[in-house]
Amino acid sequence: MINFKEEIAEQIAKVTNLNKKELEKYIEVPPNSDLGDYAFPCFKLAKDLRKAPPIIANEIKENIEIDKNIIERIDVVGGYLNIYINKEALIKTVLKEVAEKNEQYGSSNIGQGKTAVIEYSSPNIAKPFHIGHLRTTVIGGALYKIYDFLGYNTIGLNYLGDWGLQFGKVIAGISLWKDEYDFENDEMGSILKTYIRFNQEEKENPELTQMARVYFKKLEKGEPEIVKQWEHIRKISIDNYQRTYKLLNSKFDSYNGEAYYNDKMDSIIEELKNKKLLKESQGAKVVDLEKYDMPPCIVITSAGTTIYATRDLAALKDRINKYDFDKLIYVVGNEQQLHFKQVFKVMELMGYEKYISRCTHVPFGLVVDKEGEKIGSRKGNSVFLEDILNESINKVKDIINEKNPLLENKDEIAKKIGVGAIIFNDLSNSRIKDEIFDWDMILNFQGETGPYIQYIYVRTRSLLNKAGYIPKLEEINFNKLKEKESINILKLIYIFNEVIQNAADKNEPSILARYLIDLSQSFSTFYNEHKIITEDKPVQDARLFLTYVVGVVLKTGVQLLGMEMPERM
Ligand code: ARG
Repeated sequence: MINFKEEIAEQIAKVTNLNKKELEKYIEVPPNSDLGDYAFPCFKLAKDLRKAPPIIANEIKENIEIDKNIIERIDVVGGYLNIYINKEALIKTVLKEVAEKNEQYGSSNIGQGKTAVIEYSSPNIAKPFHIGHLRTTVIGGALYKIYDFLGYNTIGLNYLGDWGLQFGKVIAGISLWKDEYDFENDEMGSILKTYIRFNQEEKENPELTQMARVYFKKLEKGEPEIVKQWEHIRKISIDNYQRTYKLLNSKFDSYNGEAYYNDKMDSIIEELKNKKLLKESQGAKVVDLEKYDMPPCIVITSAGTTIYATRDLAALKDRINKYDFDKLIYVVGNEQQLHFKQVFKVMELMGYEKYISRCTHVPFGLVVDKEGEKIGSRKGNSVFLEDILNESINKVKDIINEKNPLLENKDEIAKKIGVGAIIFNDLSNSRIKDEIFDWDMILNFQGETGPYIQYIYVRTRSLLNKAGYIPKLEEINFNKLKEKESINILKLIYIFNEVIQNAADKNEPSILARYLIDLSQSFSTFYNEHKIITEDKPVQDARLFLTYVVGVVLKTGVQLLGMEMPERM
């Protein structure tokens, strides 16, 4: 594709003798296209060139050599150069590129030879997989696909919380109450009930906590009966999660969780000792982080046990050795901000700063209801993620039965829309904000939602079906796409790769989500203003081809977010 910014920067570089790459970074897109397709703010050069910005602007304009086939015209407005690109060049370059690459349009190889490790989902086993796990699973899943599309060797890790006192609690609870629940027919449900009850009763009865500790100690020591029980609980929990992962299209390359690192902590503790970083403090062994304005990182508790941070240190060391990563991304809630700062700092002090500079904690906000209250936290009742996804699917089924009862493959389509709606709602705002969970908003087919994008895509498909053909690129008269509404669409399609890359750079899938809304809305405007199926064959061909191209980009974009695209609805 023609790189307009690069062309502009190259010509300005020739006139000013400044660095082309630098100049390219200064190029802006004006808020209103009447002010040009691009703008160059000359005040950025005032210091280097020792002239007033308007003078620089005029001098550049007078001396620049522009290829009319690429740049149509340049205006000087104050200290700005307003640059208008040749629309036919834009139309041609975009359509050609999409026709050539199809589903690969927007991909790149900037990640070639680089490894991006993404840790996400990572639920605590034996605790319910509830709505709180939605965000990490969906944000991480989108990043996994986005990095992959940019050519990275991408590795997805599910760092299961499969070790810790919660197993002591569950196993103790089962030994006390196994006859009170239906373990035979509903094992997972019974385990969860046991766990919730244990947590409640333990508040009044500290002996229970003691009992849980004893069981966990047995587990740590490797007592065969208890280990067997732990293995069983772990297995049925994972089987249970798989159903949710299947609905959400989540893929992982490894399920090595905290338990996996249980026997790998000695070496990291040894290393900390050798590097003189461990300090005794109130009976615990800690790394002092006072200099960095952080509380100490506890590595061994006063009870002599290792903890969450110890396992994360061991896991990070292992990942360095195993993957030699270029990026390691932890998609974990905002409330663990300090934990990751501490872990990263300790590793840095150990001498791994090269790798720590490649690590990022990608935090996100809570899921709240319309009133702003955290969902799933009340009275220990959890809202299971699987139930919510199924509820969404059923709601969509009802809508389909009402609006389009004869639709074929209703179940499959309802799944794509229902699950897609939940995923999109999660990704549509910047991740650090709390996500508002409100059915009316999530399933609004006219709102800024997943179903809306899917609906626009289905529109593009039905237009092509109605016409009965997809025109050939060679037959398109590019002049027929010069109206404002088409150009708006083409400009958006032109920047697709830039948008994806930006989403990766900021680890912010919402950038792509917002873009897909913009593109859908632009298509809707185009469609309302202009007849696509018309008597005028050259016009119809051109508009149909644009319709096809919009469909390609919407589908790719939606899939990068982890959603699926229905062909009909
Ligand atoms: N299992 C943890 C939880 O549910 C999240 C794990 C985050 N990842 C990590 N490397 N500590 O809170």
